[in-house]
Amino acid sequence: MNRFLFFLMVGLTFLGACNPEKVLSNKEMEKSKEVTSAQLKLADGKTVYEANCAGCHESGVAGAPKPGDKAAWSERIAHGGMDMIIKKSIEGLEGNTGVMPPKGGNENLSTADITHAVTYMIGTVK
Ligand code: HEC
Repeated sequence: MNRFLFFLMVGLTFLGACNPEKVLSNKEMEKSKEVTSAQLKLADGKTVYEANCAGCHESGVAGAPKPGDKAAWSERIAHGGMDMIIKKSIEGLEGNTGVMPPKGGNENLSTADITHAVTYMIGTVK
């Protein structure tokens, strides 16, 4: 193939990549931004969870409530709300079935990390 044709084809490929129908209206942009930040928080929470909490919570070691277990979580939320749950995860707790170390044993985690991880486990975005 000659050079000119080659460059013409490359050019056309790039042109094809910017499809005008894909341009979003302002409103749609706002909406997709909201979703993105909510998803980011969940993604953050998932990362913190997998690195620091999954060891106990994934399989429910010593009665650690599992992610997405609505019944287990709603019972705990009923006792003191999200604030209390987050406070206890930061300070550690000794419950009826077992002990959870402060911040799951990683004192480098911030309050935001814990909040995101708890949010991820409960499966809702706050
Ligand atoms: C060494 C095991 C272990 C690790 C690691 C761990 N947990 Fe736990 N967690 C537990 C156990 C056990 C319980 C339940 C104790 C009970 O109620 O008897 C618990 C309970 C909880 C609760 C419920 C608190 C309440 O108010 O009832 C939250 C929230 C929680 N953990 C969050 C986390 C987060 C976030 C992490 C990671 C940063 C984490 N846990 C890491 C063992 C662990």
